[in-house]
Amino acid sequence: MTILVSGGAGFIGSNFVLDWLAQSDELLINLDNLTYAGNLENLSSLQNDPRHLFVHGDIGDSVLLASLLAQHQPRAVLNFAAESHVDRSIHGPAAFVETNIVGTFHLLEAVRAYWGTLDDGGKAAFRFLHVSTDEVYGSLSPEAAAFTEQHRYEPNSPYSASKAASDHLVRAYHHTYGLPVLTTNCSNNYGPYHFPEKLIPLMIVNALAGKPLPVYGDGQQIRDWLYVKDHCSAIRRVLEAGRTGEVYNIGGWNEKPNLEIVDTVCALLDELRPRADGASYRQQISYVTDRPGHDRRYAIDASKIALELGWKPAETFDTGIRKTVQWYLDNAQWVADVQSGVYRDWLEKNYTGRSA
Ligand code: NAD
Ligand code: TYD
Repeated sequence: MTILVSGGAGFIGSNFVLDWLAQSDELLINLDNLTYAGNLENLSSLQNDPRHLFVHGDIGDSVLLASLLAQHQPRAVLNFAAESHVDRSIHGPAAFVETNIVGTFHLLEAVRAYWGTLDDGGKAAFRFLHVSTDEVYGSLSPEAAAFTEQHRYEPNSPYSASKAASDHLVRAYHHTYGLPVLTTNCSNNYGPYHFPEKLIPLMIVNALAGKPLPVYGDGQQIRDWLYVKDHCSAIRRVLEAGRTGEVYNIGGWNEKPNLEIVDTVCALLDELRPRADGASYRQQISYVTDRPGHDRRYAIDASKIALELGWKPAETFDTGIRKTVQWYLDNAQWVADVQSGVYRDWLEKNYTGRSA
């Protein structure tokens, strides 16, 4: 048995690959084109593991996809590959359209063609799981109920609009062609291997480097935080028992304003790695101009996945954020390699001279 994961060198994808191989002996094909967000150092513990086959390639490469699918005959394809940072989507939306929409389309086409070659049993057992975000639902007012799967799509950023478009394509491939798809829409993740351009890792690494902690606008924007390993366990559960054609929202019931997140990170660092001058890291907080079109509030109603599939998160925010801060303190080399760009040499260092 084999599964194919796209984007498995990114933050959530690499956590998923590590989690999956800690629990399964199935071959895992990891297709990733290693954008700035792809980091094979995340997977260095799998260096000589025959269950992990890394393929440096693009989800938009139809020829490569057709040959990988024909050769390895996966029972499932999980699509994590994406451009994922809202601020980057504001500065350069084209890459988001290219990967998130056009790339997902090519992946769906290749999977549909491969699926058509399977016998009836293989067709029925096959799954295409699309990993998406709560941001497709848009922004909530303070008193509004959390997003259910029925909430209308109202994406506000180029990122969320491109993810919404990909969700619609996935839905259409089920409705039109009968492809057995599953879609998950998850809230903000945090945890190990999170690229330090996103709020939580940026605050940790900037604090330790003595740099300002940039809070957009008034810092009262609300996100619903989930520890990344809980997202991975939810995806495994949906893959195992989700009903095809269905959407599952994933969240940790952990709504918090950004300023509270930054404050918690500072408090943990004050405890675990106090500043030399004895002052709090809070002194480094700096209010900066808000993000254009900034969504005010996201919140996920995770009742469906709880009731239907019996999934619930293992971590509370308190336990997850402590583990996360500790991970960054324990992995200063990973942070240094990301910041210096050394992580991008890993492909050459590890793969040059290996036979295919
Ligand atoms: P990430 O940016 O850390 O990683 C994305 C990975 O995809 C990278 O390894 C990158 O090299 C790869 N990739 C990008 N374009 C590719 C292409 N064309 N072909 C092959 N690989 C490509 O993102 P992440 O935070 O790990 O997010 C993974 C998925 O989860 C995304 O689809 C994202 O929309 C979704 N999601 C993220 C969050 C979050 O809080 N980070 C929350 C909910 C959903
Ligand atoms: P981010 O981690 O970029 O995730 P998303 O925009 O997908 O939710 O940002 C989380 C929140 O933190 C969001 O409201 C924007 C805010 N933010 C800051 O205030 N300062 C920062 O430097 C960053 C990166 C984000």
